[in-house]
Amino acid sequence: MSAILPGATIGILGGGQLGRMTAMAARSLGYRVQVLDPDRSCPASFVVDSCFTAAYNDVNAAAHLARGSDVVTLEIEQIAIASLEEAARYAPVRPDAAVLNIVQDRIRQKNWLQTSGFPIGEWEPATSALELSSAVEQFHRDCFIKSTSGGYDGRSQIRVQPTNANSAEETWKVLGSRPCVVERALPLDSEISVLVARRPGGEASVYPPALNHHENQILDWSAIPAPASNELHKIASDLALQIAQQLQVVGLLVIEMFVLKDGKLLVNELAPRPHNSYHASERACVTSQFEQAVRSICDLPLGDPSVVKPAAISNLLGDVWLGSKPPAFDLALAIPGVRLHLYEKSVPRPGRKMGHLSAIGNTVEQAVARVLEARDALAR
Ligand SMILES: Nc1ncnc2c1ncn2[C@@H]1O[C@H](COP(=O)(O)OP(=O)(O)OP(=O)(O)O)[C@@H](O)[C@H]1O
Ligand SMILES: [Mg+2]
Repeated sequence: MSAILPGATIGILGGGQLGRMTAMAARSLGYRVQVLDPDRSCPASFVVDSCFTAAYNDVNAAAHLARGSDVVTLEIEQIAIASLEEAARYAPVRPDAAVLNIVQDRIRQKNWLQTSGFPIGEWEPATSALELSSAVEQFHRDCFIKSTSGGYDGRSQIRVQPTNANSAEETWKVLGSRPCVVERALPLDSEISVLVARRPGGEASVYPPALNHHENQILDWSAIPAPASNELHKIASDLALQIAQQLQVVGLLVIEMFVLKDGKLLVNELAPRPHNSYHASERACVTSQFEQAVRSICDLPLGDPSVVKPAAISNLLGDVWLGSKPPAFDLALAIPGVRLHLYEKSVPRPGRKMGHLSAIGNTVEQAVARVLEARDALAR
């Protein structure tokens, strides 16, 4: 196996903000980049050499991208397996179709985690309104229902509580009458994630855990390193490395984890790509997740993941643009240690990730406080 050196071309399936930031890191290293995305004005389109406008299941377009690339990667799980298989005829695809096949379907992913012996919460698959109903009852109507595929940022997901009991038939219809998983609502103490990068030969590198705070099932802010005990860091890192090895993933793998009130650690879900919870790695770590993605898929030596300075990010959703005044970016940028990252999405919609703010601090707490102060300042 030989390294794919700067000057070569990287093809990215998906041109959202993750593709954009990966492309920016790749350009810094001297690579050429092309992406495939259904949206002509996708965030990556402004920073790449070429952008193919095509659906994620357009196998011919995926082949076209791969023919002109030395390596192909992806930034979103919703790429069709057939597109990955077709691309793999022309260039190495990292991560490959086998990994995506496991990850892109919640039932397959949970079965894989469970049979591999990794700790996850109680869940049941439901492939009909009847099965949905019995699973919801099994968890005493205190559960999360999630479509098996296509969901992100809490979309295609319903939180069921004993007080808001819709009928199973209604819920089944709302979720598109498609297979779903029902998960027992867990007593969370906190949420963390762990990023692993893995080269084609198996060499892997693990980042310190990120602490993640969600509002309405969407990541609100995130900080590196998670202020947890050394013991928890060790357990989380070992678990993440084992999952990456077992999955044989090449590229990045982020493992979202739940820390329960009794201290137990469970896997929530896997993402074989850069992840929102590691955007702060651009500020906190020696090597950002985006540079590490490029290094791992190009089979270059992995960069040092260690923390130089604590950092935090807060997401900017479309809601920020929908107030009576435009966001006061000048006020946010006046706060020490703060930077602005916008994804050049032209249409702000409620809940749509338009960008993020980042801040460094002497402590994680200070970084979080600064980044939230900066976000509050936008509304002034
Ligand atoms: N079983 C559960 N118990 C408690 N909280 C949960 C459970 N499932 C989900 N949540 C909450 O909802 C959030 C989103 O869930 P999940 O990660 O499954 O959705 P997603 O749509 O894939 O989100 P994302 O794209 O942000 O990763 C979790 O991070 C957590 O805060
Ligand atoms: Mg999640």
